[in-house]
Amino acid sequence: MIRTLAKSIREYKRDSILTPLFMMGEVILEVFITYMLADLIDLGVNAGDVGYTVRRGMLLIGCAALSLLCGALSGRFGAVASTGFARNLRQDMYYNVQTFSFENIDKFSTAGLITRLTTDVVNVQHAYMMLIRIAVRSPLMLLFSLIMAFRINPRIATVFLCATPVLAGGIYLIMSHAHPVFERVFHTYDKLNAVVQENLRGIRVVKAFVREDHEKEKFTNVSGSIFRDMSRAQKTIAFNMPLMQACMYTCILLASWLGANMIVSDTMTTGQLMSILTYAGGILTSLMMLSMVFMMMVISRASAERIAEVLNEKTAIRNPEEPLYEVRDGSIEFKDVAFRYGEGRNCLNDISLRIESGETIGIIGGTGSGKTSLVQLIPRLYDAGEGSVLVGGRDVREYDLDTLRNAVSMVLQKNELFSGTVAENLRWGNEEATLEEMRRVCRVAQADGFISALPDGYDSEVEQGGANFSGGQKQRLCIARALLKKPKILILDDSTSAVDTATDASIRSAFRSEMPEVTKLIIAQRISSVQDADRIIVMDNGRIADFGTHDELMERCSIYIEVYESQQKGGDFDE
Ligand SMILES: Nc1ncnc2c1ncn2[C@@H]1O[C@H](COP(=O)(O)OP(=O)(O)O)[C@@H](O)[C@H]1O
Ligand SMILES: [Mg+2]
Repeated sequence: MIRTLAKSIREYKRDSILTPLFMMGEVILEVFITYMLADLIDLGVNAGDVGYTVRRGMLLIGCAALSLLCGALSGRFGAVASTGFARNLRQDMYYNVQTFSFENIDKFSTAGLITRLTTDVVNVQHAYMMLIRIAVRSPLMLLFSLIMAFRINPRIATVFLCATPVLAGGIYLIMSHAHPVFERVFHTYDKLNAVVQENLRGIRVVKAFVREDHEKEKFTNVSGSIFRDMSRAQKTIAFNMPLMQACMYTCILLASWLGANMIVSDTMTTGQLMSILTYAGGILTSLMMLSMVFMMMVISRASAERIAEVLNEKTAIRNPEEPLYEVRDGSIEFKDVAFRYGEGRNCLNDISLRIESGETIGIIGGTGSGKTSLVQLIPRLYDAGEGSVLVGGRDVREYDLDTLRNAVSMVLQKNELFSGTVAENLRWGNEEATLEEMRRVCRVAQADGFISALPDGYDSEVEQGGANFSGGQKQRLCIARALLKKPKILILDDSTSAVDTATDASIRSAFRSEMPEVTKLIIAQRISSVQDADRIIVMDNGRIADFGTHDELMERCSIYIEVYESQQKGGDFDE
């Protein structure tokens, strides 16, 4: 995990090394200053030697300035290193997510990815800052302070040495209690994000169904659970401070008492006592800081693991070694294909069929019968588990992915428009498309009419998710976008469900006259949408129930006849 994350440090290695170096400089100077302070007081001030006092004083001021400079530089490099590291992490995750196949995407929830890109990265950033600064400073300070304290007076130093394990033990107890709670909090953050995201995406549905109270309750539950866990964890951690102060004051009392006795009996000087008390402060704050570093590590370990998960996720679908860059024609063949999502049960079985280039194929079948799953294998959105899918006579796994996906244009069932203008959205299909080309495909998709009627025509703004277009208009824009690719195979996954029957028929007749050479696969719920296709696939429960022309099916396929008759009566198919 650490190695995975460390790869993202990259150009910030220099800053990451300079930070602890300057930190070391600061610590060494601080320890040195305290040590010299004893001499200054004993040999200078107490002995009444003005010259010595001034010389030593100047040296001390110089050292202090240098120490300050080291501290500032360490802070500066630390800030650059940690924010740079966070930026790289975020970028690496985001870029990797872009390479994800549908199968990878199924594994992570959107909310989970967002938490990872935001909260988790911030946690790791803080932890990294701590690691290269405090985690260097505290142990050094502790070590040097103890050594110096021993050099000045071993008996008093022993007091601190004894306090150290007590304090460390106490901190360990506190932290081991807080750790599980923190881990839980981060899982709950995922849930919070999921609730908020789902609600905001579906806000119109929430309103239409008057589900606001229910949604509020869901939110309150999650946010309450974060509050409870966080305050529990913080309450536990809050014991740190009293524990630390109790130890500190006990030590200082003991040291002062011992020290005072020694000064009286002339075995120790005032300056030495002052120095040793300063070291005491150093030792105890170092321990305190270390406990904070420890806590930050605990918090961020969960985050780091989650980030590493995204970074280590390898795309399930990859280009072959020597890819084909040319799709010969739009013929499609399935050979004994079986397919399932993840570890689930097969949702496609024994699929074998052959479609000639230029054919129009209707696909019909109940919800969940595997229509979408079937066509997704053609542009390789998923890979078949068993058997093979061939396009233009070659296995889809032999093609360069971009080549294949440009040749196979698929209008997804759940389609999206993005914020921008109509033309910008259409150009997803082909970046260089001219207005004339756009108008041509929009005429085929029956979209030119309503686009031209908009005040700004093709330059009209599309809101996020296409919220300012009707369902049927969005579907027609998505079809036009797919047509701009000039595909060899066009797949419409229930893409005219929100379009009226007459427009639907015009789209199909335009397909026939404008692009006869393109293989067209049309998934639909209405028999009328597929009736005039060359052949029709009837899907049932992950299998091909029948494959033939409308007339053939009307003679021999009971499922097809049933659907036909129910729709004739004005009833609707089951979606
Ligand atoms: N991303 C997915 N992960 C897991 N199961 C899925 C996924 N998509 C669809 N399924 C399941 O696969 C089966 C076939 O679904 P699908 O091909 O979408 O049917 P259709 O398009 O005919 O409605 C269903 O049982 C559905 O629950
Ligand atoms: Mg579907």
